[in-house]
Amino acid sequence: MLDENPNGSNPSTNPWLADIVQKRPDRRAMLGGALGVAAAQFFGGSLLSGRASARPSAASLAASSLLGFTEIPPSVADTIVVPPGYTWDVLLPWGTPLFSSVAAFQTDASNTSTDQEGQVGFNHDGLHYFPLSTGAQASARGLIVMNHEYTDASQIYTAAQGSAITNDALGQEKVAKALAGHGVTVAEIMQGALGTWTHVVDSPYNRRVTGATPVAFSGPVSASHPKLQSSINPSPLGTLNNCAHGFTPWGTYLACEENFNGYFGTANATWTATPLESRYGITKTGFGYNWHIASPRFDLNVNRNEVNRFGWCVEIDPFNPSAVPVKRTWLGRFKHEGATVTVSNGRACVYSGDDENGEYLYKFVSRSPWQDMLAQGNSPLDIGMLYVAKFNSDGTGKWIPLQWNRGPLTPANGWIDQADVLIRTRQAADAVGATRLHRPEWVTENPLTQDIFVALTNGSGNNSVVNSNRDPNPYGHIIKLREPFGDHTRVNFTWSVFMIAGDNQYDATVPAAQSIFGSPDGIWCDDDGRLWIQTDISNSSQNRADRGYDRIGNNQMLAADPATGELKRFLTGPRGCEVTGVIMTPDKRTMFVNIQHPGESTSYWNGLNGTPSTANPSTVSSWPFGGRPRPATVVIRKLDGGVIGS
Ligand code: FEO
Ligand code: CA
Ligand code: CA
Ligand code: CA
Repeated sequence: MLDENPNGSNPSTNPWLADIVQKRPDRRAMLGGALGVAAAQFFGGSLLSGRASARPSAASLAASSLLGFTEIPPSVADTIVVPPGYTWDVLLPWGTPLFSSVAAFQTDASNTSTDQEGQVGFNHDGLHYFPLSTGAQASARGLIVMNHEYTDASQIYTAAQGSAITNDALGQEKVAKALAGHGVTVAEIMQGALGTWTHVVDSPYNRRVTGATPVAFSGPVSASHPKLQSSINPSPLGTLNNCAHGFTPWGTYLACEENFNGYFGTANATWTATPLESRYGITKTGFGYNWHIASPRFDLNVNRNEVNRFGWCVEIDPFNPSAVPVKRTWLGRFKHEGATVTVSNGRACVYSGDDENGEYLYKFVSRSPWQDMLAQGNSPLDIGMLYVAKFNSDGTGKWIPLQWNRGPLTPANGWIDQADVLIRTRQAADAVGATRLHRPEWVTENPLTQDIFVALTNGSGNNSVVNSNRDPNPYGHIIKLREPFGDHTRVNFTWSVFMIAGDNQYDATVPAAQSIFGSPDGIWCDDDGRLWIQTDISNSSQNRADRGYDRIGNNQMLAADPATGELKRFLTGPRGCEVTGVIMTPDKRTMFVNIQHPGESTSYWNGLNGTPSTANPSTVSSWPFGGRPRPATVVIRKLDGGVIGS
């Protein structure tokens, strides 16, 4: 996502994780002596007292077999690069028709909004693979379900249409096309005899969920809640800014709504934000999409409550194309990066970061084992408790319940009921003293240890060792949480910094021998325990020496060994892109990775080649087919048919 709100929307005086690390008693000892070496140990996993320390020696790194591939160097090439012995193909690029009745993709972007409703959406993000068969065929035929985070007006309209939104029929068509480019794609895919994958046109499972699809609400906040009423579109519609995702053990997909605030605006000069709206970053201008000019649905003055229908997690059943997507309100309302579902004692435990500078990490725990709840006719996501994380300076932490009429969340303090707490999740978390973080993005569980990893992509506004004394913090880091016995229903945890990102040439606290990378966003532990790390360096920093990013190159994907801290670069993306979304087939022999916004306006490449526009969308990138760039899924296989990463 573009860096729309670098300073965040959090006015609370709650502490930052960074400040808490400053106060840790072991900090001074840790940072004493030769800074580089000590910092490497500090950030290498020895933060917690009693924890086995330490980054491994070079000799032990060489002996590691978890990361069996040859590391590739950083790249500024306008293509995908993978290690020797691997191959990649493009699948389901933006605009691919899912049905034979839908028009083919037009390279001049002249497809209509109606065409787009039957084609793969724009800006691929989180994704999952659901097998359609059992046994060996499970890894040869399945459903790809993926998010489409946002659309780029310089890429999705024709040269004649231009990028501006106008208050006329053309403007309405352009908003409709953008809405159709958002949401989720469900597409059946299958592997052919030669190993390559194709999508199945007219599969009965093929589906688009867009910004205009009817949706339902469930959990404590119902669609009939007064704060969700609209006279423009009485029934709730659509999902927007679906960044990362989740998948459940009962076979459904969770599309998360991240920067929803940016779509709303108003030309009414007298409109002012309420405290609730301010807390969610809602402003007259939004992110400059200007949809409100053509569509009163997105006009804050005309349709005030529409924005409250966003910021939720949306459950989609990919196996039932007629099932209505459901916004599961117990998971809270904030800028959900993703929703990572784990299971402890049969209960669903869902982790979700609120990706804005200074926001919090949340966890939902279902009341009972998910199988029992489904058998009783309840969604496991509709009854339970939402918690927010508080990090202590002694390396411990606590999940604090956001339960109505408990702690400060009482009627006397203006909290009406549980629905009110959830609509105002951010303010409820402020009230209970949650810890502010540097943009929590993806969360993943190591299936071998039950450790929880959280990517804190980057941030600004505070200065401490957890940000390696960088203020602002341009490179980010990955933290690790451990709940007692790996039981995710528990409310206590311990935490440490697993890995600090960056380039040692600019920052001595980054281990000199560590592969350089920045802005970790997508993280995913595969079944063997490899921690895949995908980067989303902002387009204002990518490739720029004055931001410390010239040596890091284009956005990329790396793999780490959680036990040793070994790190190797596995994939580099084309120019202007973000690498996001990763999953494998059950046999671990096919990996799917999404390439989002190749060719997006990027200050470094704009300076060399010009800014992309509807008249010339290819100044930054022409990946993957030459000409107009297209977000797409990349399919990665090992030439010898082996396990990816081994
Ligand atoms: Fe859409 Fe937080 O990345
Ligand atoms: Ca993104
Ligand atoms: Ca992301
Ligand atoms: Ca990001």
